[in-house]
Amino acid sequence: MREYDVIVVGAGGAGLRAAIAAQEAGADVAMVTKLHPVRSHTGAAEGGINAALREGDDWHDHAYDTMKGSDYLGDAPAVEALTRESPKETIQLENWGMAFSRDEDGQVSQRPFGGLSFPRTTYAGAETGHHMLHTMYEQVVKRGIEVYDEWYVTRLAVSDEDEPEKRDCHGVVAYDIKRGEIEGFRARDGVILATGGLGQVYDHTTNAIANTGDGVAMAYRAGVPIEDMEMIQFHPTTLPSTGVLISEGVRGEGGILYNSEGERFMFEGGYANNDGELASRDVVSRAELNEVNNGRGIEDEYVHLDMRHLGEDRILDRLENILHLAEDFEGVDGLEEPMPVKPGQHYAMGGIETDEWGATCVGGLYAVGECACASVHGANRLGGNALPELAVFGARAGRHAAGDVDEEAKITTGWDEDSEEGENVSPVALGEAGLPSAEKGALADGGRSSPPTDAADGGAAAESAGDAGVVEEAVQAERTRVHYLLEKEEGLNHAEVRSELQETMTENVNVFREESALKDALEDIREARQDYQHVTVEDPSRTYNTDLIHTIETRNLLDVAEAITVGALARDEFRGAHWRKEHQERKDDEWLKHTMLSWNDGSPGLWYKPAVLEGEDKSYEPKERSY
Ligand code: FUM
Repeated sequence: MREYDVIVVGAGGAGLRAAIAAQEAGADVAMVTKLHPVRSHTGAAEGGINAALREGDDWHDHAYDTMKGSDYLGDAPAVEALTRESPKETIQLENWGMAFSRDEDGQVSQRPFGGLSFPRTTYAGAETGHHMLHTMYEQVVKRGIEVYDEWYVTRLAVSDEDEPEKRDCHGVVAYDIKRGEIEGFRARDGVILATGGLGQVYDHTTNAIANTGDGVAMAYRAGVPIEDMEMIQFHPTTLPSTGVLISEGVRGEGGILYNSEGERFMFEGGYANNDGELASRDVVSRAELNEVNNGRGIEDEYVHLDMRHLGEDRILDRLENILHLAEDFEGVDGLEEPMPVKPGQHYAMGGIETDEWGATCVGGLYAVGECACASVHGANRLGGNALPELAVFGARAGRHAAGDVDEEAKITTGWDEDSEEGENVSPVALGEAGLPSAEKGALADGGRSSPPTDAADGGAAAESAGDAGVVEEAVQAERTRVHYLLEKEEGLNHAEVRSELQETMTENVNVFREESALKDALEDIREARQDYQHVTVEDPSRTYNTDLIHTIETRNLLDVAEAITVGALARDEFRGAHWRKEHQERKDDEWLKHTMLSWNDGSPGLWYKPAVLEGEDKSYEPKERSY
């Protein structure tokens, strides 16, 4: 078994930043990652990094914009940590050599983005994430941090106390994709999950094929509550045929949205009389779909995004990447024609519940970046707030896991005296409840482990095996599962289950949500879960067995899809990205609270905890949200 002080799972922006911070704080760090670091999805981030850097701007204004953007479901201590520390992290990136775009006078450029009261989005052309990822990876290489790339972490080694708040995470189990071997990694001080998004739950998404909600699902099954999973962001400008992102930077630079009648509908339709195309994403996505649904879409599917008037020089200087994407993926020349765009799944605002240091309620387990919910984004994330989140919370969690922080967190985690039970209104059983246990082979990867016990010695072996024993037991459980999947001779291919799932999520749990459709989705997910019990891996090989990997990922997608939908059905109000047909108003008296879901050993339970609107020196009182 390999041993380190801190193990970081995932090597996108959040993971890289966490690893650097932990190492700087003196920890012996390893990164274990499904993808090579520079293939991580952070590399696809286009628009930029929000940071109050300039005279006339202030991090307090950024905090206000973020709380308003979140529709008052963000937790103020996390939002203020983000906005206060983003300038420092952005300057750090610049000092590490990140190639930011610059103005004539040499200052790092900033542009307007949706929902911001100041043009505070720093950028590197329209490929900011790519530059950020490479800049951080250089620092990891320079520091000699060990990277196990193409090692897929499939299970956490968490102790088996009844209450999640009493459990500890001692390491992870990973599948070496190149050799097909399963091995344990023991973490002496902490495991930091930085596994990114879950966009593959949908079939039209900006997310990479690898974004399968692995960290969220693993932590959930190990007992960590997951928070506000219903809050899914649909980005207003994705290419219709592929879901490829066309950056908000286009609208930031002055790009205009038109419907089929040539109307600039964001203004003419009264959707956002002040900010127009630069209203927040939830507002723009709904407006586009409303146009399409009322017969003013093009080919009944999309609207046009026009940037021709910006001129070739400016486009080539600031948005060149967009020209290539539109040409390569849609066959459109953005210099000569408007680009077709429609909303597509882009981001999960919810995720693994953490405090503002990235710590979960399970001892030694952290989560950062898109898989985590601190909660910074609440019911709607502002464009340009994801990249600073990676840097700020990556650095915070890395330092904390390495023992370099003694500040008390203001955000609590786990069940406490402010929590309240929720009513599960699902028409079907959730999780593994009611599934015949004899058929759970494929599903059998619940989260906790105990050291191997030998009744004859009264458990002495278990005790002496200690933390390493928890990891060893998790390794054995994972070997059993993988063996089962590889040996089962007949059954379904994971792709059938995955497409069932993606179809129902896209159809029923999208921008516009209604009760009957959400219930249909839960029934379909239940069916997909039942089908999953019969999956089989056809490829018997040990080397680069993508059939096996996708099969394991599909199980994770089932768990996160169910969590999204059950939260969406229970939240009977309209807040941020969560629109409900039958409930057209934000209900602050009842719903200024986070949706929490706990796995409960396979029978998930819904509960709630209050949103934290109290900041350092002010309270963010909910106001009417208009742009
Ligand atoms: O539109 C974009 O460039 C995406 C930015 C973001 O999601 O923050």
